Amino acid sequence: WLLPLFVLLLGYALGSIPFGLLLTRFTGAGDLRQIGSGNIGATNVLRTGRKGLAAATLLLDLLKGAAAVLIGAALIDGGGPMAGAAAFIGHCYPVWLRFAGGKGVATMMGVVTALHWPAGCIFAAVWLGALFGTKWSSVGGMAAAVSAPVALWFMGRIELVPVALAMALILSWRHRANIARLIQGTEPKIGSSKE
Ligand code: G3P
Repeated sequence: WLLPLFVLLLGYALGSIPFGLLLTRFTGAGDLRQIGSGNIGATNVLRTGRKGLAAATLLLDLLKGAAAVLIGAALIDGGGPMAGAAAFIGHCYPVWLRFAGGKGVATMMGVVTALHWPAGCIFAAVWLGALFGTKWSSVGGMAAAVSAPVALWFMGRIELVPVALAMALILSWRHRANIARLIQGTEPKIGSSKE
């Protein structure tokens, strides 16, 4: 049981690195908590006006999820989904930030891609399609998240459906303020200066 516990902790530790917060802090781009939605993800980094930093946040949050899966899979049988889920939880609920972390879109994309890359491609395609179709980052992220368990189901990777479904549900819960703003019609579109 020691190795599975180690895999879980390692996944959580990797996922809990708040790249958005660190990158903006160390480049003097501002305190993400005081900007826009206050979230630590790439979308909110974009609101600082630093496109490169936002892209780096997206990439690093994605890579930490993928890295957790690959390391977990290399360490134990079935360690991929275990470490990936732990990384996702680490991103959303990092102990370092008193469990107030991100919303999980980039990290889930990394986890899904490393678990089954065709499902990762569908995740990315739905994300980009919904993001550029609606100009709402939150809609893009939630649509992509929900597409993952469905895609895995149709691709015959039934054993991965529960973990993808769990991540999609947590991700949607983490977007509850965005959902409320979408209903009220006050959710800002990507690239808009209104915030
Ligand atoms: O991944 C987060 C994104 O979907 C929404 O971010 O800052 O608009 O709440 P934000």
